[in-house]
Amino acid sequence: MKVVLQNLTKIFPSRNKKEKNGEVIAVNDFNLEIPDGKLIGLLGPSGCGKSTTLYMISGLQTPTRGKIFFGDDDVTKLAPENRGIGLVFQNYALYPHMTVQQNILFPLQNLKGNQRLSKEEMLKRANEVAKLVQIDEYMQRKPAELSGGQQQRVAIARALVKMPRVLLLDEPLSNLDARLRLQTREEIRRIQRDTGITTIFVTHDQEEAMSISDYIVVMKLGVIMQTGKPQWVYDDPANLFVAKFLGAPPINLFTGRVEGGKLFIGEEDVLDVGDVEDQEVYVGVRPEGFLLTGEGRLTCSVSGVDVMGRDVSVVSTNANSLNALVRAIIASDDAGKIDGDTVKFNLKPHKVLIFNKETEKRVYFGGQIASHEAMLQKMKEEGQDYVTHTGPLPREADDKPKEKKELPKTKMQVVGGFFKNSFNKVKGLFKKKGTAEETPAESDEGGAAGAPSDEPGDETPREEAATVETKEEAPMPETESSENTSDSEV
Ligand SMILES: Nc1ncnc2c1ncn2[C@@H]1O[C@H](COP(=O)(O)OP(=O)(O)OP(=O)(O)O)[C@@H](O)[C@H]1O
Ligand SMILES: [Mg+2]
Repeated sequence: MKVVLQNLTKIFPSRNKKEKNGEVIAVNDFNLEIPDGKLIGLLGPSGCGKSTTLYMISGLQTPTRGKIFFGDDDVTKLAPENRGIGLVFQNYALYPHMTVQQNILFPLQNLKGNQRLSKEEMLKRANEVAKLVQIDEYMQRKPAELSGGQQQRVAIARALVKMPRVLLLDEPLSNLDARLRLQTREEIRRIQRDTGITTIFVTHDQEEAMSISDYIVVMKLGVIMQTGKPQWVYDDPANLFVAKFLGAPPINLFTGRVEGGKLFIGEEDVLDVGDVEDQEVYVGVRPEGFLLTGEGRLTCSVSGVDVMGRDVSVVSTNANSLNALVRAIIASDDAGKIDGDTVKFNLKPHKVLIFNKETEKRVYFGGQIASHEAMLQKMKEEGQDYVTHTGPLPREADDKPKEKKELPKTKMQVVGGFFKNSFNKVKGLFKKKGTAEETPAESDEGGAAGAPSDEPGDETPREEAATVETKEEAPMPETESSENTSDSEV
């Protein structure tokens, strides 16, 4: 089932009592076509409007403006129970007093009219989906007797049992530990492929979205920033926000400028960029974009080398870097070329992304122009719009990359820095993968690592409803009459 969102907008009255007539634009003029049978990852930082978008598609919230189509049907005004959707909420919940089987059967028992099924049919369906999500052996258990991952799969089974036209998953893995998260996300992918149900998967974890989705939609403050195949969006981000949001380890950012067809970081001319106009820029270099071949053009001070088997992560500093540390991943064979405290990198042109400092929009150069156009063409052939935001970027007050303030160094600091560098370098040689500290620039809006999770071993039954079948019996996360966040109901 194709899903089309047309100028979809949701405006909430502000909760801030000091702001008179204030409003929150949770979803702002969303235009999106979700192709039939695909899995779409809706991705963005907390508060960017992912859940609100999902609730509008499900019918639990009414759009302020805009339309929603399932296929050719305008469903904007249709009640949730008539839309044929399966929904797993951010804080999924099972009915604690019911067995797994009763939980899964629940949505079927509420079918009305000619949709009603016989008891045998209901049991058959429940068994089928239980097998699909591999919880059929726990049918007689109560939720409290299941692990978090098993409960999550029951919630998914319950969403699937009515054979929905569209499956909506709001952070369905948020309560799982790292291993189960990985396992369950692969299962969701398998189930989606097996059933071919058009699925929208909401997450703020970029790695999760990248690994599971056919297409990703990156959002910021209610606005679509970019859509496309995960790898394409990673390789070809439209603006600084998308470049920062995707990638682990994150992109290395520097302040720089283009002058006379050359890209400068500080006083070093690091790359030829051809016909690009002179301008102040942010320079993003993916960790895999550095080369250690002969005499390089970007000089950094080495603070450590992390050996990661096939690759080596060189951790260094540069006065123009916006991240506290520059992280370069190079082939281990080249590690021998690091000699002394400074390292001189060359940059791979297709891994260097430059953004106008004022607008933060991408500035294409050289071969990037042709590869960008090739991607647009491929998307078109696949019947997909390669959407990128064209207007000014929405921004919060404190949203700009933080430029480092260089304090004048005292003699003691310089000497101290030398010892610290040497110590870190030696320490780095013994460091294993994944133990390196994070940079402050990584932890701002771009730092999209794990979702908040419950305490491990939390045995309190989850109370929030995960069905939209009956308004009376199933407590809603957010309805128009009681618009408070679903999070507060846990
Ligand atoms: N009922 C409501 N009343 C007022 N503001 C709301 C309401 N629901 C959501 N908001 C606001 O709308 C914005 C989007 O919220 P939403 O829950 O859709 O974000 P999200 O992307 O799902 O975030 P998260 O990743 O934290 O779940 C936020 O600024 C939020 O505070
Ligand atoms: Mg949410």
